[in-house]
Amino acid sequence: MYTLEHVSKVYEETIALQDISFSVQQGEIVGVVGKSGSGKSTLLRLLNLLETPTEGRLVLADKDVTQLSKKEIQQQKQKIGMVFQQYNLLNNLTVKENVALPLKLIGVKDEEKVLELLSFVGMAHKKDSYPAQLSGGEKQRVALARALTRNPDVLLCDEATSSLDEENTDDVIRLLQQIHQEFPVTIFFVSHELDTVKKLCERVLVMEDSRLLGTVENQPTLLEKSNQPYLEKVQRRLAK
Ligand SMILES: Nc1ncnc2c1ncn2[C@@H]1O[C@H](COP(=O)(O)OP(=O)(O)OP(=O)(O)O)[C@@H](O)[C@H]1O
Ligand SMILES: [Mg+2]
Repeated sequence: MYTLEHVSKVYEETIALQDISFSVQQGEIVGVVGKSGSGKSTLLRLLNLLETPTEGRLVLADKDVTQLSKKEIQQQKQKIGMVFQQYNLLNNLTVKENVALPLKLIGVKDEEKVLELLSFVGMAHKKDSYPAQLSGGEKQRVALARALTRNPDVLLCDEATSSLDEENTDDVIRLLQQIHQEFPVTIFFVSHELDTVKKLCERVLVMEDSRLLGTVENQPTLLEKSNQPYLEKVQRRLAK
């Protein structure tokens, strides 16, 4: 679905990406790891069609993105969902309105779908709350629902769990796994938390200083909802 051929991205004096080549099939779950400044977010901005490569070719759905018309780019963008570390919810809109926003922007009203997505992420009971009234984990679940409203082919997650505690991180990973089981979505998961990447990703791109050092295959673990009481969990972990 995505193919990058010798892609570079240069900002004035900074080389953010250098000679990146890889291919990803529809439905893969790909991790992207690397130290701060290695180019991970820049890579996602290219995959998101927010930016274009300075050099090289980025092929999406068999088309070189630099050859696409503005209209085609808009159409492709609608099929890409994005989740950020800072959630990026609009504070003056309710949970329900935040999730409805991507549809509203393309002139679609579908309240049923919005409520269905909020139930899916376990946030239907907070539909009329504002983001300021939610915890970080709750905000991220709303952000995930919002990223799914247009049935994306691709879900790009930039440090989506990096501000969350372990329990909330596992909740988000479990949701991503459920999404992946129910829809043939391709997931890119940028993170510096190797434990989290290990739970979710089938293949991991390793970045350093704007280059792709290599790719590591991984066997993800399907997370089940834990019924273990929190106190018991802490006791076990601390006793290790
Ligand atoms: N819009 C921009 N203008 C100029 N330089 C930029 C821009 N965006 C990124 N860079 C530079 O490109 C390099 C890669 O940045 P990028 O944000 O992709 O790193 P990252 O791996 O996501 O880091 P982090 O883990 O801290 O989020 C950095 O040196 C950064 O300063
Ligand atoms: Mg980044």
